[in-house]
Amino acid sequence: PPVITAAAPMAHLTQLMNFAKASSNTRVIGSTGFTSTVSYLQSQLTGLGWTTTVQNFTTGGKKAANVIAEWPYGDAAHVIMAGAHSDSVKAGPGINDDGSGVAALLANASAITQSGLRPAKRIRFGFWGAEEQGDIGSSYYVSHLAGGETAKIDAYLNFDMVGNKVENGKAVGWSLYADGQSNGLNTPFKTYFTSKGITVNPSLDTDDRSDHAAFKNAGVKVTGVSSVRSLNELGACYHKACDDLTDVSSDSMVLASNAIASAVWTLAG
Ligand code: PHE
Ligand code: ZN
Ligand code: ZN
Ligand code: ZN
Repeated sequence: PPVITAAAPMAHLTQLMNFAKASSNTRVIGSTGFTSTVSYLQSQLTGLGWTTTVQNFTTGGKKAANVIAEWPYGDAAHVIMAGAHSDSVKAGPGINDDGSGVAALLANASAITQSGLRPAKRIRFGFWGAEEQGDIGSSYYVSHLAGGETAKIDAYLNFDMVGNKVENGKAVGWSLYADGQSNGLNTPFKTYFTSKGITVNPSLDTDDRSDHAAFKNAGVKVTGVSSVRSLNELGACYHKACDDLTDVSSDSMVLASNAIASAVWTLAG
């Protein structure tokens, strides 16, 4: 895959931060920060030539939405899916949680488009709303898949918090979800991080606390990557107002973006 530099993911994070700034420092569902994020995703992905759908739903009396985008090449009966959540908590702008995953995936969509990739399998990205209310958007998507569509998803890869920075002298703790240890999905990520001299936690216990859970519960093979060592070390600004542009490292964004590219290229063929 082409090398993704810091400029692409960081520009997306700046946009997400601007949406939060115009919305009392939040991108929570029900806020303009969230609706601006959804519109941005739709226009970016459509502009890149991806087939993009906005799936609206309501939870707790608030409007929310998923954005689903597909690169319209490759065998539609074998889908490699990747996702990140597009919402934040009310308390903050959610730039690491999970603007980082969103920005890394947008940078990958652009890399796929620019390279004119013609993969063997179909590549589909999901940007989930209302993760912070309990994986509502991803659960809605999986439960509304038409008959037979779930079985066509060969893998679901989740990216929630991939921009952590050095804190109190403690380096970022790259982790691969425990779910991917036995199904083979951690291998391309391990290969990438090893090539960069980075040792990963190969078995992050996510306690099903993100959007891979809905896919796993439906029988889809899942894994994910995060720049945290464990759920007890999510960072000083986790779910706080200070989860802004100063809460992410551009080095982490570069690593995450290129790890995704490497794995998607390998898995989609
Ligand atoms: N999903 C959690 C949140 O958004 C944090 C988390 C990150 C959980 C990575 C699992 C893996 O707050
Ligand atoms: Zn298949
Ligand atoms: Zn969160
Ligand atoms: Zn999250």
